[in-house]
Amino acid sequence: MKVTLLLVAAIGAQACQRERAFQHHPHKHVKRQSIFPPALTPDEEILINSFDSTSISEWSYYYTHGDHVAGRNETMAQWTADKWSEYGFTSRLDEYYVFLNYPVSNSLVLNYANGSTYTPSLQEDVLEEDPTTSYPNRIPTFHGYSFTGNASAEYIYVGIGQKVDFDRLKALGVELEGKIALAKYGGAFRGLKVKNAQDNGMIGTVIFTDPGDDGNMTEAKGVAAYPDGPARNPSTVQRGSVEFLSTYPGDPTTPGYVSKEGSPRADPSYVTPQIPSLPISWIEAQPLLQALNGFGTNGTEVNRTNWVGAIPGVDYFTGEGSGATLSMSNVMEDAYATIWDTVGVINGTNEDEVVIVGNHRDAWIIGGAADPNSGSAVLIELAKAFSALAETGWKPKRTIILCSWDAEEYGLVGSTEWMEEYIPWLKNAAVSYLNIDVAVSGPIPDVSSTPDLHAIATSIMKKIVYPYRGATNLTMYDVWTHEGGEVGVLGSGSDYTAFLHRGIAAIDMGAGGGPNDPVYPYHSNYDSYHWMTEFGDPGFVTHKAIGQYLTLLLYHMVSDDVLPLEPADYVEELGIYFEALEEEIAASNYSIDLSELTAAISTFETYAQQFVDLRAQAVEAGDSDLITVQNHKARDFSRGFTSQGGLPTREFYQHLIFAPGRDTGYAPVTYPAITESITFDADPQLAQEWVGKTSQAILVAANILKT
Ligand SMILES: *[C@@H]1O[C@H](CO)[C@@H](O)[C@H](O)[C@H]1NC(C)=O
Ligand SMILES: *[C@@H]1O[C@H](CO)[C@@H](O)[C@H](O)[C@H]1NC(C)=O
Ligand SMILES: *[C@@H]1O[C@H](CO)[C@@H](O)[C@H](O)[C@H]1NC(C)=O
Ligand SMILES: *[C@@H]1O[C@H](CO)[C@@H](O)[C@H](O)[C@H]1NC(C)=O
Ligand SMILES: *[C@@H]1O[C@H](CO)[C@@H](O)[C@H](O)[C@H]1NC(C)=O
Ligand SMILES: *[C@@H]1O[C@H](CO)[C@@H](O)[C@H](O)[C@H]1NC(C)=O
Ligand SMILES: *[C@@H]1O[C@H](CO)[C@@H](O)[C@H](O)[C@H]1NC(C)=O
Ligand SMILES: *[C@@H]1O[C@H](CO)[C@@H](O)[C@H](O)[C@H]1NC(C)=O
Ligand SMILES: *[C@@H]1O[C@H](CO)[C@@H](O)[C@H](O)[C@H]1NC(C)=O
Ligand SMILES: [Zn+2]
Repeated sequence: MKVTLLLVAAIGAQACQRERAFQHHPHKHVKRQSIFPPALTPDEEILINSFDSTSISEWSYYYTHGDHVAGRNETMAQWTADKWSEYGFTSRLDEYYVFLNYPVSNSLVLNYANGSTYTPSLQEDVLEEDPTTSYPNRIPTFHGYSFTGNASAEYIYVGIGQKVDFDRLKALGVELEGKIALAKYGGAFRGLKVKNAQDNGMIGTVIFTDPGDDGNMTEAKGVAAYPDGPARNPSTVQRGSVEFLSTYPGDPTTPGYVSKEGSPRADPSYVTPQIPSLPISWIEAQPLLQALNGFGTNGTEVNRTNWVGAIPGVDYFTGEGSGATLSMSNVMEDAYATIWDTVGVINGTNEDEVVIVGNHRDAWIIGGAADPNSGSAVLIELAKAFSALAETGWKPKRTIILCSWDAEEYGLVGSTEWMEEYIPWLKNAAVSYLNIDVAVSGPIPDVSSTPDLHAIATSIMKKIVYPYRGATNLTMYDVWTHEGGEVGVLGSGSDYTAFLHRGIAAIDMGAGGGPNDPVYPYHSNYDSYHWMTEFGDPGFVTHKAIGQYLTLLLYHMVSDDVLPLEPADYVEELGIYFEALEEEIAASNYSIDLSELTAAISTFETYAQQFVDLRAQAVEAGDSDLITVQNHKARDFSRGFTSQGGLPTREFYQHLIFAPGRDTGYAPVTYPAITESITFDADPQLAQEWVGKTSQAILVAANILKT
């Protein structure tokens, strides 16, 4: 069976669980698309002018100089609460008691056929220029939620380790059972690479970083490596979670309910690997791959997307029959630990309308200057800006909740447990969830959101002066348009997930690098304050612009009389996803009747238009009660898109319009239940059933908008 996952949008670079992806646009003259300088209201002026790169740099420095792995730094959570309190937010820590694991020791040995051995260090180089790389308590390389165990066997190169890659290996007749998988980072979420290896009877997984993903910024192309230049330091290792994120995010021992001390606990093994895994740098993976050269099928002949990388002297052979073996050991300490979500509140006058802004605080390393603390630094500056506005007597109409999540890195744990605790209230009151994870890892702005937020998300860009490759006379909208100008579809990989899948409008934002920008050393020791100041965002100027953007977006969400959500903007998107679905069905040769879906979209369009008309009348007449009624419809209608029982095989994921792909983890699939019944389950009857359920959900959403 062919698995084609719909990539309706370019994968951006902002979410912390995601990797670098390229948006390729020639560096021609940037066309002005908006008024310059932007026209601002007095309130907007106050908010914008409050932003200061120097103080953002100071917050960044604080966050990036101490161990803040999940569940290990209550001081930092409290510091965040204190800062927010200082700026007028009533702040507290919400605690959860969750299953995590921490690294104890690991090792890897390559045993050549001739009896020689090679023993990778599994460590990143200490750099004199970058102080936090030498901290005595620096975090070892490991995978979160990885399995404690040893494996010793021949190994096979499995490409990026998606289901299609394993299908290709089986078609080539490669024996997988009992072997170790050597997989390349990129594409799918890393936990799914381990899952696929495990599902194929393999007994361990080693995942390496490859400079082939670094565009033109490589040493092979003459660019100096960090710390001397913007190319990747060869010893860079990507840590990260191996939870099976597309099945369930959050504490794997409490699926669907909150984790408190004394909560009943489920066996986590359905979403955590049962074979050991290790991450490794490209320089230490090179001998492993070279030992496979000449054995099995070479990379060109395997002929799979993303199979061949750019490690010198490597032909990316599958490697069966090499005679070389790996001996790996991974020891983790399984633990129940307290985690701390910092929550800061300013009550609005309308208590039943709440806007949540979230960023996670935990990092895999001492630094975390991009992931996630560029976002953390921005949130403090945002709080400061609202305190400046409050001095004028301003009060929000809607309640603002700031959240600094813990344990995002293990699998969105802090945000998922918080949602599970507060879901009845959130379902009633949440207007939208605004996420900022990696605020800045490069210069290119990137935004993904639910369709009802597209309009406000793009219009606010016109109000932001955005620094871009030396130019200071452009708005964020000009730059974003130049770089492709598309609002992405939300998949997963950051904390918006739990909210989105309960039918809450959501947006994720940030700025990342392209193929000619400094390589972002994701989840490595080099995602440090030093890297940020030298390469990522010297002067913290992009931090400032992204922070101003989030701040104005939040301001309008909580201040505007007419809630800036546009339900009618779902119509066009539902149509685009429909066409993609038709193509998928055509490619599968199944006969599936979509007439019910067509009718549902058409009904949605009718009621969405009625909603828009009635709201315009209410505004015209100055009828504030009717405006409130319409605002509440805009807040509520998207709850209709969710299915109580969840998508097939994954109860947690309830949104029937978009979800992370089962075998991608990050990238979205649209009409996911219908699409994956075809592409994943090859079950046309199931697909037909979900055409019915998806259509019903669209009708529920439509009926909420009905006058
Ligand atoms: C921005 O300024 C640069 C010179 O600094 C100029 O070349 C460019 O034309 C200006 N762009 C716009 C859109 O005005
Ligand atoms: C918590 O983080 C702060 C700020 O980075 C750091 O100074 C402190 O040492 C950390 N605490 C622990 C227990 O590591
Ligand atoms: C064994 O093979 C490896 C890889 O080709 C080589 O580097 C090493 O020198 C060889 N050892 C001996 C003893 O021949
Ligand atoms: C890399 O550089 C070459 C030569 O300058 C250019 O043609 C190519 O488009 C660049 N690649 C990317 C991905 O930008
Ligand atoms: C890969 O295999 C194909 C087919 O056997 C061959 O034509 C090609 O030269 C090989 N490439 C390498 C790098 O070994
Ligand atoms: C690689 O696969 C594509 C289809 O996926 C096919 O069109 C192409 O001919 C193949 N190339 C080789 C060298 O086999
Ligand atoms: C696993 O491997 C490590 C490292 O080689 C070794 O110290 C340990 O004894 C092994 N454990 C078991 C249970 O074999
Ligand atoms: C905000 O509103 C909640 C709910 O009505 C109330 O419990 C809380 O005390 C209020 N907080 C402040 C600071 O007024
Ligand atoms: C669909 O049918 C066409 C034409 O009969 C065939 O070439 C193609 O392989 C089929 N696709 C699938 C997925 O079965
Ligand atoms: Zn992150």
